[in-house]
Amino acid sequence: MRGILKRVHPEGIPWPLSLLYGRLSATTVFRRHYELVAGDVRQYSPADRILDVGTGPGHLLLALHRALPNAALVGVDISPGMAALAERNVDRSGKGGVIEIREADAASLPFEDESFDIVVSTGSLHHWKAPLEGLSEAYRVLRRGGHALIYDLVRRVPRDVAGYMRSEFGTFRSTLLWLHSFEEPFMDAPEMEELAQRTDFDLEGTRFVGALCCLALLKKAG
Ligand SMILES: C[S@@+](CC[C@H](N)C(=O)[O-])C[C@H]1O[C@@H](n2cnc3c(N)ncnc32)[C@H](O)[C@@H]1O
Repeated sequence: MRGILKRVHPEGIPWPLSLLYGRLSATTVFRRHYELVAGDVRQYSPADRILDVGTGPGHLLLALHRALPNAALVGVDISPGMAALAERNVDRSGKGGVIEIREADAASLPFEDESFDIVVSTGSLHHWKAPLEGLSEAYRVLRRGGHALIYDLVRRVPRDVAGYMRSEFGTFRSTLLWLHSFEEPFMDAPEMEELAQRTDFDLEGTRFVGALCCLALLKKAG
């Protein structure tokens, strides 16, 4: 089933769906998750440069800027519509000077080796047509000792995570999120770990941040 979904599922979110996603990403559940993720990423600082892969409307970058105001932030997205929306959101927030947006594929990042301290990504991994190449590119652009933190929704969530979602966001919104997993090619935590084991990263494990499963990867110091 996941194989079929994966084949028909679009990689980038094109215009005008990017605008629809832009609306969705402004809702409470999404906003709360950007803050949770930014707080989680802060634990891995100090970080001078952070890259967000599949940044979408760029809200995570803005949350990261609030959490880590001194870090230089760069977001990439494969969809021209999404990259334009992120740029607009960043400009409207007056952060155009400190947050850079580029149109690029996770599997072919336009950056030099070892040019970031942290690579982060939310809700994008399940879109990537070449996830192994995407993680390998994250490895290449990270400095030694840097982390890749890949957060995504997964098909099966532990009971305590489902309980947290219901108590925090209510049964209706939690059910909508669960229904979403039938039309998106989400992975499961063990699949994310298996994928990571095929890269040069050291796998630190998976854990949940809100409803998102975080795959934590370390590029070991040489
Ligand atoms: C569900 S959205 C998540 C957006 C944002 N990270 C968020 O949390 O709101 C997935 C994003 O990943 C982007 N994307 C998909 N495949 C990609 C790839 N190979 N490289 C870069 N971006 C990609 C899509 O265009 C889309 O903007």
